[in-house]
Amino acid sequence: MDILKDKDNLNSVGKNVQKKDGISKVNGSAIFARDINFEGMLYAKVLRSKVAHAVLNNIYTDKAEKLPGVVCVLTSKDIPGKNRVGIIIKDEPVLVDDKIRRYGDALAVVAAETEETAEKAIELIEVDYTELPVITTVDDALKEDSLKIHGDTNILGHKTLIKGNVDEAFKKCDVIVENTYKTNYYAHMFIEPECGVSKYENGILTVWASTQNPHFDRGEVARVLNLPQSKVRVSQAVTGGGFGGKLDISTQCFVALLTYYTKRPVKLSYTREESMSVSSKRHPHTMKYKTGADKNGKILAMQAEFMQDSGAYASYGPAVITRGMVHATGPYEIPNVSIEATMTYTNNPMAGAFRGFGVPQVSIAHEQQIDAIAEKLNISPYEIRLKNALKVGSYTSTMQKLESSAGLIDTLKKAREKSEEVISDDDFKKDPNGIKKRGVGIGCMWYGIGNTGLPNPASAFLEMHSDCSVTVLAGCADIGQGSNTVMCQIVAETLGIDYENVNIVSADTGATPEGGATSASRQTYISGNACKKAAEMARETLFDVASELLNVNRDKIILKDEKACFKDDQNNYVTLEQIMSECARKGIIVLGCAYFNPNTTSLDPENMQGIPFATYGFATHFIEVEVNTYTGEIKVLKVIAAHDVGKAINKRMVEGQIEGGCLMGMGLGILENLVVENAKMKTLNFSNYLIYTANDIPEIYPIIVESQEKTGPFGAKGVGEPALIPVAPAILNAVYNATGVRFTEIPLTLERVVEKLNYE
Ligand code: MOS
Repeated sequence: MDILKDKDNLNSVGKNVQKKDGISKVNGSAIFARDINFEGMLYAKVLRSKVAHAVLNNIYTDKAEKLPGVVCVLTSKDIPGKNRVGIIIKDEPVLVDDKIRRYGDALAVVAAETEETAEKAIELIEVDYTELPVITTVDDALKEDSLKIHGDTNILGHKTLIKGNVDEAFKKCDVIVENTYKTNYYAHMFIEPECGVSKYENGILTVWASTQNPHFDRGEVARVLNLPQSKVRVSQAVTGGGFGGKLDISTQCFVALLTYYTKRPVKLSYTREESMSVSSKRHPHTMKYKTGADKNGKILAMQAEFMQDSGAYASYGPAVITRGMVHATGPYEIPNVSIEATMTYTNNPMAGAFRGFGVPQVSIAHEQQIDAIAEKLNISPYEIRLKNALKVGSYTSTMQKLESSAGLIDTLKKAREKSEEVISDDDFKKDPNGIKKRGVGIGCMWYGIGNTGLPNPASAFLEMHSDCSVTVLAGCADIGQGSNTVMCQIVAETLGIDYENVNIVSADTGATPEGGATSASRQTYISGNACKKAAEMARETLFDVASELLNVNRDKIILKDEKACFKDDQNNYVTLEQIMSECARKGIIVLGCAYFNPNTTSLDPENMQGIPFATYGFATHFIEVEVNTYTGEIKVLKVIAAHDVGKAINKRMVEGQIEGGCLMGMGLGILENLVVENAKMKTLNFSNYLIYTANDIPEIYPIIVESQEKTGPFGAKGVGEPALIPVAPAILNAVYNATGVRFTEIPLTLERVVEKLNYE
């Protein structure tokens, strides 16, 4: 903790150092999986189902096998190990064996000398199936006599969270607000569709994949191939975004199977349409909320009921249920809470992890509920949030006492100050009686860093070389967010060496230890702590040697600027170079290895009480919009985004996350409109699934609040998902402020806005 107090004295942490991969991304030299080629490499294609629900009777591959240039055609019968994968529940076949459960289910996979031949071969495969009725709604899935998609129930999860007694509390409320909110599917639209390349190297099957979690992938590939994990290596190729959509298995098992049989390198590149139809989507939610407060605006009770659609497979669904419930109050201390959530299987597209895991959905509800209560009590949206805000000492919905780093109130205050500076009253006077109406709304959020009530460790190794530079080996996958840079900053700071002298090898099961998923905004906090602890272990060795050289107790020494010096006399020192020469002379190798697992408890299965997260991020956004009441167009003009991220290890990258999150959040609230008809996705490309681009970016004012987290590396928490969450709710509240109409369903498409403003 000495360094926390010394925070103005940091050399690498808190500095806008250059991203480790910055240049290679800008000049195009980064090697994505698509750029990996090997001599004799085959190209793979997957045959995918064109129906959503059917019994599979047979697959005929003879014609495909006879096509010149085809080297291998595989179906479920060829899988040497277990034909089921899945992050939490192993319910998804690699290749369908019994039943087709959604459009796009994989039926067969082909490897050929060229991609075109593989494509042709796919068309020659005949599939004999018997169609079943398609279940497309949660309501239908829940009917007693419905067909069961897996096993004997369509209920994937049903949970209850209880804190206090809502029934008693509602009797004491002076105001109660009830609404039902609905959210749609959303697609990640990461810029790089999934790709994988596999190859046998010295008896080890290696897969290079676009992924958020190579260690998970290795386990799945090994199980499917019935190989020991030591014979499978998964190396993360440079990955063009993920946002949760590259946590599920995609190409990995297909290429591995084909290499297993052909002994040749294989590449599988998804098309955008294929990626869209099979990668996970954001879970659609229906959320019934009842919130009550006393006349002073203190919220006394909140009751909610969620219905969630997981589609054909579980993916991260169980985690979305629990995370959404824990966060359902919003970042407010509510003494009485009751939530019930039900998630079902349907034949719809598979839902899964997507930036925020259910929290963006619940924030649409809790942020509008709190505004509606404030209005009834004639309190400002700002005041009611201040009054109810979680702070150090508060008890959350799971009765977790917040011990440190709960900076919501600071984010509220700083965002308001900035809004007074940049949003002028004159803005609202333009076109006062015309069709364009302006408004400002607030969105707040809290977000647990790491997996919900589950162990989720990460680890790191490192070595200091004879020239005093350091190589870090960490499992943590950098998918563009910048974790490689952050880990090097943390190690450089801990060892008192220059950031440029720290290099990292990450996310390669052949070289690095487990880092867990790049997910849940967890890597800065968890892998960051693992790297810091590994560096501290190496530092102990340096201290031992330095204390001998300086002939002083090692408590009296600090490491700084490549020197070990006396704490109270920094002119009295040995250089790191001298220490390393001494190490060489004595035969000492300077190593570190560590893991970090956040301090959580599992949640009580009866009422979900417990400590699901070690720490939380907090944020407040103020957003100004202009609503064209004639066309329905909503323009986001200004976003003030104040985030308590703990210590910002790299401010510029935190700001980058905030800006990216704002654009994605605008898409969630307004533009992105995924269409599913009878279980089939109609929007499969950028041509009809529109996202905001750099051309649409509003004025964004990121504000970083550094409420030090005592268990974080240098006080850091995380920001990846928090950046997105407050955006859509702030837009919805701003639209209400502008028009007096409350939208309870997103996205705010032109049609929805025009209809509700003009015809309801
Ligand atoms: Mo994210 S939904 O944790 O990749």
